[in-house]
Amino acid sequence: MNDVYILAVESSCDDTSIAIVKNGCECISLSISSQIDVHNMYGGVVPELASRMHCENILYVLEDCLKKCNITIKNINAIAVTYKPGLLGSLLVGLEFAKTLAFIYNKPLIGVNHLIGHIYANNLEDKLQFPLLALVVSGGHTEISIMHDNYHFELLGSTLDDAIGESFDKVARVLGYPYPGGPSIEKAALIGKNTYNLPRPVNDETYNFSYSGLKSQVINIVNNAKQKNIEINKEDLACSFQTVAIDEIVRKVELALKNTNIKRLALAGGVSANKYLKNNLQILCDKYGAKLYKPSIIYCTDNAAMIGAAAYPLYLNNDFKDLTLDANSNADLVA
Ligand code: KG4
Ligand code: ZN
Repeated sequence: MNDVYILAVESSCDDTSIAIVKNGCECISLSISSQIDVHNMYGGVVPELASRMHCENILYVLEDCLKKCNITIKNINAIAVTYKPGLLGSLLVGLEFAKTLAFIYNKPLIGVNHLIGHIYANNLEDKLQFPLLALVVSGGHTEISIMHDNYHFELLGSTLDDAIGESFDKVARVLGYPYPGGPSIEKAALIGKNTYNLPRPVNDETYNFSYSGLKSQVINIVNNAKQKNIEINKEDLACSFQTVAIDEIVRKVELALKNTNIKRLALAGGVSANKYLKNNLQILCDKYGAKLYKPSIIYCTDNAAMIGAAAYPLYLNNDFKDLTLDANSNADLVA
């Protein structure tokens, strides 16, 4: 079979990204334009600004992506795009851009679920074998599922309220660290100690998660200290929060490994950049004789290469969309 080159577009949140991926597993070129500096001034992503900046940047991102390789759009087999979930305005920019490319160059259009993209990011480095447990931990989602085969998911559980990444971002904000909060908390936690006694979320045997209570507890500690003029040890609080937040993920993954007897775990989403999480999952996988798939940092956070990787099985199935494809801001792995 001839090689398949997919040009993928990702704009679901605050990164504008375009990539060219060969056969779903080799990233030929990747360009990412981050908007972090702008959103940082507001302490989080401002949706209106995000859409505006995607509009301003997307053509330059395409130009940069094509410049970095010797492939022209004419040699591309299909155009893939994230169409759910994410910020509606942001999704629409990438979607309309991808549709325009597909129309002008007469290429098939492939719609990709952003969360599934995060899981397939692993394929760029190590081919996923099935069945596996997929753990998606990002700014918008926290869910664990069984992946029986390509695009065959069985959801085991998800967060009942906040996503884990969202709680990192909110805790970082109250502690005065910049957006996105995950990397700031991780850095502070390295210096700090687990001294604050924070409650363990959803202390049960389901696969569900909850981060709203934990986040509120940290916010209360900070606010009470301010009122009483007591000094907070920010590094210790960051470390205590990270320990509880991540340990809960690890505990639920252990439950899933034990109950399903599945011997593979694929880590996905922005929070998978966290070394405390990766190290503890590695220890857990070693204990259960399971293989851990973990993307390198560049493929952990939002990028278009993962969308190109996730589009490949759809391409092989001739699962193409027409130009009426619409964006959907709310979706999980299976809907
Ligand atoms: O997957 P992603 O780039 O965007 C979404 O699809 O949401 O994930 C972004 C999230 C943010 O909440 C960010 O704080 C978190 O991933 N994150 C981290 C780390 N790096 C990024 N969380 C914990 N530790 C990190 N090192
Ligand atoms: Zn993401």
